[in-house]
Amino acid sequence: MSTSEIDPEAVQAQALERIQSADTEEALRAVEREFLGKQGVVQGLLARIPSLEPSQRGAAGKQANQIKGAITQALAVREAALAHAAMDAERQALGFDPTLPPPTVERGSLHPITQVTRELEDLFASMGYHILDGPEVERDHYNFEALNIPADHPARDSQDTFYCDQEGKLVLRTHTSPVQVRAMERLQPPFRAVAPGKVFRQESTDASHEHTFHQMEGLVVGKDISVGHLIGAMKTLLAGIFGRELEVRLRPGYFPFVEPGFELDARCPFCEEGCSVCKRTTWIELLPCGLVHPEVLRAGGIDPEEWSGFAFGLGLSRLVMLRYGIDDVRHLLSGDLRFLRQF
Ligand code: DAH
Repeated sequence: MSTSEIDPEAVQAQALERIQSADTEEALRAVEREFLGKQGVVQGLLARIPSLEPSQRGAAGKQANQIKGAITQALAVREAALAHAAMDAERQALGFDPTLPPPTVERGSLHPITQVTRELEDLFASMGYHILDGPEVERDHYNFEALNIPADHPARDSQDTFYCDQEGKLVLRTHTSPVQVRAMERLQPPFRAVAPGKVFRQESTDASHEHTFHQMEGLVVGKDISVGHLIGAMKTLLAGIFGRELEVRLRPGYFPFVEPGFELDARCPFCEEGCSVCKRTTWIELLPCGLVHPEVLRAGGIDPEEWSGFAFGLGLSRLVMLRYGIDDVRHLLSGDLRFLRQF
């Protein structure tokens, strides 16, 4: 069509209709070239302006530009609609929607007992301690006999034992102390070692009793080990745990595998004048300990004439409860995510 015959309004109507019925990207580009291209129809409208009466030129220019704008916009709208349709088709074909955000990844965290255990392991390793492991199903020999607790000993009653066989030779260990004897059998004195782990007792559970809980055993064997060494080591331990030196005191405590045996208390790290944690006494009972009984050294193959040692049994579960203000030991191994998510 020669430019002089072009009817601008018809151009716009035709272009919009062609855009509307273009159902591929290519078809759309073809319409664009035809109307907006260098040789395109709109260019033709502009090109004929100089040949118009001067009085008509302004209006004709304006109209041509309006048409150009309308076509450009219609192209963009149609292009977006086509892209949308293409994505819908892809979604259908895939069977899922690739534009949805990915499912959120649930992040886990370390159990508070694991966190505190690792912290203490680092602390003890830095002081030259071996980190040891022992079996949870333990021989009666290590759990009791070698620790100076013979079969008829009343101390057995206080450790309500899960037996694993008819003969009573295998038990779920009731404490981590058997690792003391295993350590003595394997390591040459002098040595220091700690052994964290699970222990088991057959007892009815309540807020402060659980059938499965965690302890960390400590054992130091050397020349002329004294109660002074024991106190020094425990103060270092406390400073590591609570971040500052705490005053300690010893009360006598009876355990067949230490002589003398003690209960070690520390000044309450949470208050000055008494609080609910220390039951208003300003002291918290922290751990039992003592000098290794000569019979135990002997059972571990170490000559008590030549060597001596101290041992301690840290209640890891209790320490975790103190640290985080947990009021019921049963939360620890409940597996309850509402509890665990807090750490
Ligand atoms: N094994 C003892 C218990 O679980 C705790 C204990 C007491 C461990 C004194 C020790 C110790 O190493 O010296 O009841």
